Amino acid sequence: MANILIGATGSVAAIKLPDLVTKCHEAGHDVRVVATEAACYFLDRAAIPCPVFRDADEWPTTGYPRGAPVLHIELRKWADLFLLAPLDANTLGKLAVGLCDNCLTCVWRAWDLTRPIVFAPAMNTLMWEHPFTRKHLRALAVDFGAGHIPSHLQAEQLVAQINDRAAGLHIVGPVTKTLACGDTGIGAMAEPTAIVAAAQTMLTRPRKAHSS
Ligand SMILES: Cc1cc2nc3c(=O)[nH]c(=O)nc-3n(C[C@H](O)[C@H](O)[C@H](O)COP(=O)(O)O)c2cc1C
Repeated sequence: MANILIGATGSVAAIKLPDLVTKCHEAGHDVRVVATEAACYFLDRAAIPCPVFRDADEWPTTGYPRGAPVLHIELRKWADLFLLAPLDANTLGKLAVGLCDNCLTCVWRAWDLTRPIVFAPAMNTLMWEHPFTRKHLRALAVDFGAGHIPSHLQAEQLVAQINDRAAGLHIVGPVTKTLACGDTGIGAMAEPTAIVAAAQTMLTRPRKAHSS
C-alpha cells in the first residue's frame, strides 16, 4: 500500500476523479487530491471519496500562525507518488519551467525526486500537438535524466522516449476520442485503469538515481 497524491488541473477530465480515486483505493492505496482552482470548476468535492485540498486550504484567511504546518510540504512528505491527472497544458508549462504559484505546483517544486511521478495529460488535440507541448516535455525529459532527445520527435515518440529513459517520471499518454469540445482526435485523458496500472508499476520499480 502506498500514499498517492493526485494533482488535478483544469481539464474537463477532472470529472473522472471519483473513478480514479476509487481505482487507486481498489489497488490498496491511500489517496489525497490537491486541485487547482480551475480543476475545482469541474469537481464536486463531495463526490470524491478522499480528502481534496485547494489553494484556499494553503492560504487560510486568518493569516499564517508561526510554526503552523505548510500544506504543500505536508502533502509532499505524505505522498509516495505524485500523480498529475488530469494534467492540463497550462500546468504542464508551469512544471517545465518550475513556476509554483499554487498549492499543486508548490508540491511539484518541493518534490523529493527519489519518489516517482506519473503524468496523465488531457487537452484539446491542437494543444497536445502544439510545439509548446513538445518543448515542455523535452525540457522535463532533460531534467529527469533522459539525455538528449531529438527536437524533431512528435509528442507520442517523445512520451515513449521519456518513459524508456527518464528516472522516476512516467507519462500515460492521452487517447483519441471525441473530446468534450466536440473535436475528435488525440488529447483525452487515458482511462483510470491505465493510469492506476502505470502508478502501480512506478511504485514497484526500483528507484533510479535522479541525475540532473
Ligand atoms: C470548459 C473548459 C474545459 C477545459 N479543458 C481543458 C483541457 O482539457 N485541457 C487543457 O489543457 N485546458 C483546458 N481548459 C483550459 C484550462 O482550464 C485553463 O488553461 C486554466 O487556466 C488551467 O489552470 P490550471 O492549470 O491552474 O488548472 C479548459 C477550460 C474550460 C473553460
